[in-house]
Amino acid sequence: MKKAYGKAGVAQVKGFTGWLKVNAAAYQSATHGARYVNNYANKQADRHYKKFEKAGILPLGSVLAKDSFVVQPNGKVSMGPLFIMEKMNKGFNKSSGDWRYSMILPTGKVAGMTKGKGMSMKFCAECHAGVAPDQDHILLVPDEYRAKF
Ligand code: HEC
Repeated sequence: MKKAYGKAGVAQVKGFTGWLKVNAAAYQSATHGARYVNNYANKQADRHYKKFEKAGILPLGSVLAKDSFVVQPNGKVSMGPLFIMEKMNKGFNKSSGDWRYSMILPTGKVAGMTKGKGMSMKFCAECHAGVAPDQDHILLVPDEYRAKF
């Protein structure tokens, strides 16, 4: 899984499986294609994100990554996209709270990026903006799947 995503050459998510994993077990995410997902937070983000609702505004350089997989009716597991949020400089994009959304396909291709080439990722930002300003556009792992810190 790591290898296929790695082909995209997105440095921000290099080694993400070694970051703090904030869910105790993979869970099915209706909003990300009903795929099973895991959520990871990088060094800049982890001590904030693990406070969940009390995370506050995440600092510049925070990266949250969500890998995904699908279990087929025959039991075979196939990989889904890697969903990424990256906190950019203030003023990068006000409507997304300066988060840059992107998605890496299992083929290693970047499907798109906020303000980048390909898909605009506007639908990501719009749904995530639903919790602003109470939360910094982060929608958090459902209670029952959270890791305990
Ligand atoms: C219809 C609403 C919706 C859309 C569209 C959506 N998300 Fe999410 N996202 C959520 C919800 C709800 C959660 C938390 C629960 C979960 O994982 O299902 C979440 C969690 C995340 C997380 C973990 C960080 C956090 O918010 O706690 C990342 C990273 C993420 N989404 C990236 C994306 C990207 C990239 C896209 C677009 C390709 C996207 N999302 C589209 C609703 C959405």
